[in-house]
Amino acid sequence: MSHSTSGRQWPYPRFIAHRGGGALAPENTLAGFREGLRYGYRGAECDVKLSADNVCFLLHDDTVERTSNGRGAAAALSMAQLARLDAGGWKGAAFAGEPMPTLETVAACCLAHGIALNIEIKPCPGREAETGATVAAEAARLWSGAAFPPLLSSFSAEALSAAREAAPNLPRAWLVEQVPADWQARLRDLDCVALHCDYQSLSAELAAAIKQAGFQLLCYTVNQPADAERLLAWGVDSVCTDRLDLLRLISD
Ligand code: G3P
Ligand code: CA
Repeated sequence: MSHSTSGRQWPYPRFIAHRGGGALAPENTLAGFREGLRYGYRGAECDVKLSADNVCFLLHDDTVERTSNGRGAAAALSMAQLARLDAGGWKGAAFAGEPMPTLETVAACCLAHGIALNIEIKPCPGREAETGATVAAEAARLWSGAAFPPLLSSFSAEALSAAREAAPNLPRAWLVEQVPADWQARLRDLDCVALHCDYQSLSAELAAAIKQAGFQLLCYTVNQPADAERLLAWGVDSVCTDRLDLLRLISD
């Protein structure tokens, strides 16, 4: 099936590399973004939180164990301590020594290569508002004057509200595992342009209703070509994937 991009209002690519480079590289590292570029991706998602000294950096979990050679809670480590960790070796010797990047480093990469970034604001527990505000302000600064603003998203309504206060002009998406019955009121309350949901919680009818209400619709984490085809046919604007070959398999 072919998916024309002509006439689309949504400025973000249909295919977004999950956590930078999907499953092919250590998540949330520049090695992942490079892998995405190699596969032709011009859209990427990443998880951003705050170090102990309030630097915006990329990490999914609340602790550093799974994706680095460090130990402990991310919120307890300064950016200097985080930057010394090996965030690539766990994924294979070829990635050993890959650092945990700051949002600033990632912005430079995205701006240099024309990558549209979806920044998931992923606060450490108890730091929701502070993280939302700091990440949004930093994103507005880093992308100031850029033609293509990053999309801010979060599961945390508190983080999204704080992001809105700090950088009202940056577009926001509300992330949900299950689409709640009052999705429309929640999206309007949060002043979000888009809903980003687990694709398994979506039906054709729900997708049509969300689109008809004027919102953009994204789905995560879509790794099977047949699922991507079905979702795009339902009107989903972008799918987030670990399978970088998905673009070649089903894109026009
Ligand atoms: O952005 C959607 C997706 O990344 C949310 O799930 O756990 O991979 O951050 P997770
Ligand atoms: Ca994420």
